[in-house]
Amino acid sequence: MLFFVICFSRLPDVSAQSSRGSARGLDALLQDYAYRAFVHPKTGVIFDGSVPSNLTGIQIAAMRLRSGSLYRKGFDMYKEFEIPEGVTESPYVERLVLVYQNLGNWSMLYYPLPGYSYLAPVLGLLAYDAGNLSAKNLPELDIRASGDPIMIEFQDVKPAPAGTMAKCVSFDLDGSVNFSNVESGNMCSTVQQGHFSIAVESTAPSPTPVSPSPTPPMPSGKRKKKSNTKVWIIVGSVVGGLALLALLSFLVLWAKKYRERKNLQRMEKAADVGEALQMTSVGDAKAPAATFTRTQPTIETEYVP
Ligand SMILES: *[C@@H]1O[C@H](CO)[C@@H](O)[C@H](O)[C@H]1NC(C)=O
Ligand SMILES: *[C@@H]1O[C@H](CO)[C@@H](O)[C@H](O)[C@H]1NC(C)=O
Ligand SMILES: *[C@@H]1O[C@H](CO)[C@@H](O)[C@H](O)[C@H]1NC(C)=O
Ligand SMILES: *[C@@H]1O[C@H](CO)[C@@H](O)[C@H](O)[C@H]1NC(C)=O
Repeated sequence: MLFFVICFSRLPDVSAQSSRGSARGLDALLQDYAYRAFVHPKTGVIFDGSVPSNLTGIQIAAMRLRSGSLYRKGFDMYKEFEIPEGVTESPYVERLVLVYQNLGNWSMLYYPLPGYSYLAPVLGLLAYDAGNLSAKNLPELDIRASGDPIMIEFQDVKPAPAGTMAKCVSFDLDGSVNFSNVESGNMCSTVQQGHFSIAVESTAPSPTPVSPSPTPPMPSGKRKKKSNTKVWIIVGSVVGGLALLALLSFLVLWAKKYRERKNLQRMEKAADVGEALQMTSVGDAKAPAATFTRTQPTIETEYVP
């Protein structure tokens, strides 16, 4: 029982953390590889990058923009992203690079979404300072759409299975997840950078009856929520264990009672057999005859209170 308690309290934590960590590690790696696409960097031109062979299936691109131009004009179509005017970044930089990611068949691996399946690949849009195009491990800038939201027009969205409803899903850089409605069949909107896709609740029953909100916690409540779920898991395991114990002892008791009853029945049967009435012959017929009278008849008048 203790073993199970330990397993259940450890597993979800570790897996959530490692996928989060590897997703951020991937962002850093893809920033590096996307920047390598700038051989003759031109502002406002999309450069497709190439990924290391161990990540085949992921597509990346990079585009450099002047901050003022981004704010005044936006960018009509950066791959699937339609960037409106009014997008600001903080801290302020003179030029920035928007790195595009299409995680293709790696989406599920880096952005697991328990209970859901993706109808489109996870796309990423991340902003970095363009000050040094050979820099690695750059921190992201915080970009915000102050007017209209950034629109994402997904290509080749798989149709949602009958009876299910496709949802836009967005992950911010902390890993918190939001769901919203799909617009015009294949469009999602966002006011900030992050990773985006269209997903649908899987019809197959999820093997683990975990709470239906796989939402990783917001940064502030992170630790609290985590330890909260841990506590719940431990409480659940303990209560489950106790219930199991109760059931077991009930079964043992019942088996004991059952055996006792069986014994009693057997004894009774044996007694019945032993007490077979003696037969006496009356003429030709046989009739049962008691060997002795069990209750002596008393005459009422003899009864003296
Ligand atoms: C893929 O290869 C690159 C460069 O060879 C390496 O830095 C990176 O850690 C590898 N990534 C994965 C996920 O294996
Ligand atoms: C994605 O597909 C490529 C080939 O197109 C393959 O090399 C790679 O291993 C696949 N990735 C995953 C996570 O299955
Ligand atoms: C740009 O970044 C690279 C790698 O971090 C560093 O070696 C180089 O000195 C930086 N260049 C400038 C001009 O800061
Ligand atoms: C999710 O929604 C909350 C509240 O509406 C918002 O503060 C947060 O930025 C959203 N996150 C993403 C990734 O869209």
